[in-house]
Amino acid sequence: MIQQFSHIAPLQNYLAEKINEGQEFSFVPTMGNLHEGHLSLARESLKDSRNSFCVFSIFVNPKQFGPKEDFHNYPSTIEEDIVKLSSLSKEMKKDILLFYPDNQQEIFPEGFATSITVDGLSKILCGKQRKNHFKGVTTVVYRLLILLKPHRTYMGLKDFQQQFLIKKMVKDLLLSSEIISLPTIREKSNLAMSSRNNYLTPQEREGEALCLYNTMLRVKHALENSSLSLKEKISLFNDEKEKTLGPHSKWQYLELLDSETLKNITSKTKTAQIFGAYLCGKTRLIDNMTIYLNP
Ligand code: PAF
Repeated sequence: MIQQFSHIAPLQNYLAEKINEGQEFSFVPTMGNLHEGHLSLARESLKDSRNSFCVFSIFVNPKQFGPKEDFHNYPSTIEEDIVKLSSLSKEMKKDILLFYPDNQQEIFPEGFATSITVDGLSKILCGKQRKNHFKGVTTVVYRLLILLKPHRTYMGLKDFQQQFLIKKMVKDLLLSSEIISLPTIREKSNLAMSSRNNYLTPQEREGEALCLYNTMLRVKHALENSSLSLKEKISLFNDEKEKTLGPHSKWQYLELLDSETLKNITSKTKTAQIFGAYLCGKTRLIDNMTIYLNP
């Protein structure tokens, strides 16, 4: 069954009752326009017998959009989203509580003036182009975690930097929710699922948009299959990066970082993460891939 809440207080009362009964629950924060990437997070969370039900939020957070970004046009498909969540709840035979605030004050009351920033990490990769993006993300997720107090929160590895920052925030601020990161869900073509894929034309979707994945895969194969030293691998990557990021390039970045620290790779690095952001027409696409440096 799916139950809908547009206000926080009745949802909190409901959750308090369930917690009194000894139940635990999962949480999936989203901005809606649901695709299989979002649904797989809720599905996986409901497979865990510790989670009796899932709270699923849909809130387009104004704080994480820049002034020239798509906040006002962000795709909203609430009716379809509800149908998808209802059928998932039937499939999993567990309840989904949809939290769909009908106004921003529900999350950020009048006069709200505090923000949460994870220093350093929020300024690299996407944080370079999207100045206050991660401050907006960590602030809204902090609010949601404090308001709902979920036992476990599920996030997708497609937004690797986002889940990394949120794990750091949870650790630093002693929040009690466990953050569980799950693999990127891809279309048949290997394009990482994203609500923003809806902005792509059919031609872009089947063609140019795939150059992000294909480039990363090519670099991954080159770095994993070679018997090169670390220094040689770094220089191979830097050559690739230089070729890719020319003056008229549609790439915003291509980076190789240690998956566990998000710092430059060193001889201690076990797995690295290749990150890319690519402008396909007007659509900004991001993706990442794990690279096993010493397979
Ligand atoms: O990944 C998203 O959809 C958003 O950044 C999130 C985590 C729901 C915060 O608004």
